[in-house]
Amino acid sequence: MKILMVCLGNICRSPLAQGIMESKLHKYGLDWEVDSSGTSAWHIGERPDSRSVDIAEKNNIRISNQRARQFKSEDLDRFDLILAMDTENYNQIRKVAGPEHAHKIKMILQYLYPGENRIVPDPYYDGGFQHVFDLLDNACEEIVKHHSKQTEN
Ligand code: 4NP
Repeated sequence: MKILMVCLGNICRSPLAQGIMESKLHKYGLDWEVDSSGTSAWHIGERPDSRSVDIAEKNNIRISNQRARQFKSEDLDRFDLILAMDTENYNQIRKVAGPEHAHKIKMILQYLYPGENRIVPDPYYDGGFQHVFDLLDNACEEIVKHHSKQTEN
């Protein structure tokens, strides 16, 4: 299973989602791949936001080695599951995706709150990194539960 986490800048939410998922894969001994990207080009090559780095570190997760990159159309073939943080990211990805890719693209909180269309709020201006961490931690736990039933790796 290859999972891509997607937000807007690839410096706050999706790097955290990647780091949290990597720690779950380690915890459960799963040989999956996880990566992250942003729909915008604004922060290409940058380290994650220090507030994301700090909240991850508090939870023994290291994300400071990640570097921001932009989502590209090749990602639609490369990954099995493309998880958007909010509706804007979701719509951006759907815009470049063909109908054959549609089934791979989901809002990440669908796993935690099925059918509710909830978003991971953008913490860049307003903060709330602890809340974002908790949402992503719980969502990643559900994703692992859901998909490890379907596949061994
Ligand atoms: P992210 O947060 O999408 O979770 O990485 C943001 C980062 C940067 C900006 C917006 C959101 N920005 O406006 O530069």
